[in-house]
Amino acid sequence: MMTKEKKNWINSLAAQLQVSAMQMPLLKAMPKLELHAHLNGCVRTSTLLDLAVGENSKEKISNTDLESLIRKEDRSLTECFRLFPVIHALTTDHAVVTRITREAIEDFLLDNVVYLELRTTPKCNDLYGMSKRSYVEAVFAGFEAAGVMYKTDCDVQDGHRMHVRLLLSIDRRENAEAAMNTVQLAWDMRDRGVAGVDLSGDPAIGNWETFLPALTLAKELGVPLTLHCGEVSNPKEVREMLALQPRRLGHVCCLEEAEWRALLDSGIPVEICLTSNVRTESVSSMRDHHFAALYNAKHPVVLCTDDPGLFSTSLTLEFAIAATCFGLTNLELLIMGKSAINYTFADDKTKLILHGIFDDALQ
Ligand code: IMP
Ligand code: ZN
Repeated sequence: MMTKEKKNWINSLAAQLQVSAMQMPLLKAMPKLELHAHLNGCVRTSTLLDLAVGENSKEKISNTDLESLIRKEDRSLTECFRLFPVIHALTTDHAVVTRITREAIEDFLLDNVVYLELRTTPKCNDLYGMSKRSYVEAVFAGFEAAGVMYKTDCDVQDGHRMHVRLLLSIDRRENAEAAMNTVQLAWDMRDRGVAGVDLSGDPAIGNWETFLPALTLAKELGVPLTLHCGEVSNPKEVREMLALQPRRLGHVCCLEEAEWRALLDSGIPVEICLTSNVRTESVSSMRDHHFAALYNAKHPVVLCTDDPGLFSTSLTLEFAIAATCFGLTNLELLIMGKSAINYTFADDKTKLILHGIFDDALQ
């Protein structure tokens, strides 16, 4: 369940956004696709606090500011990457990974997300007998516990309200071998619900060249790729990412003129994370967000949350921000969502089901 403090915060933000009392429930009721959400960025504040006081973490967390760090609503990029190790130290064993997966799905279900691509970095931890593969199995156990449809070509099952796919992330702190292992794992588990590979992590860390062999292998195998791109200024890396032609790109905030034109020419769909980009200061303010330029240029875009737990947001709230700051109507938001079905990494059968859901809503 959403915590009381998060609900209050969302309500007050909605008030600040001047979204009418009528519009919020409509935005919430709208079917939505979430294509960019990190598992450990989805963890509820209440769960983190619960785990922090429990016996769940064998690794000592000595930070006396832990509670204030967890409770903080407004974090810079640096603070976000300070919090992730804390979250990771609390979500180490298989049972906790299963729990946070189930809870993340429950939160997206409450927000009427009908298709979710959840991404996470498979982790190894000898202390807990965890390998990258067993970590992924623990995530699947969370899918099972939440009762969602996640396997390729899965028939719609009674009482299962959401289609979910898993993307395996390569963290920019990892080496070439670890990146290769993640791609291999994604390939091995492609029929079990793993639909693609993502490159993410602190954008100030790591060299693109380290990940290129693994990402090239993914392309050769036909594993769909999405890359975090341009969170900080790095024109060379952006050019090389575009040259690889991934299926999607995340963020694209800090692009120079030449790279911006190359992006528009490429037609590569962009995962837009409004709150995340402003909070992490990749974009100076909501009004200056490049979403407007991409949307007006009819470039394929999809609204996403990135880390709804970390940024105390939801997809409904991101839609409300798009409505208020960029003047999108409910119909335009719904049409944008329907278009994004084509940017998912789902199989054709699932895409057809999703088109049916959006067509019903459009009527
Ligand atoms: P996990 O992969 O489930 O552990 O989710 C947390 C991880 O997602 C972080 O350690 C980062 O590697 C990545 N991540 C979350 N938010 C961002 C972001 O805004 N930029 C880049 N990477 C991110
Ligand atoms: Zn992200």
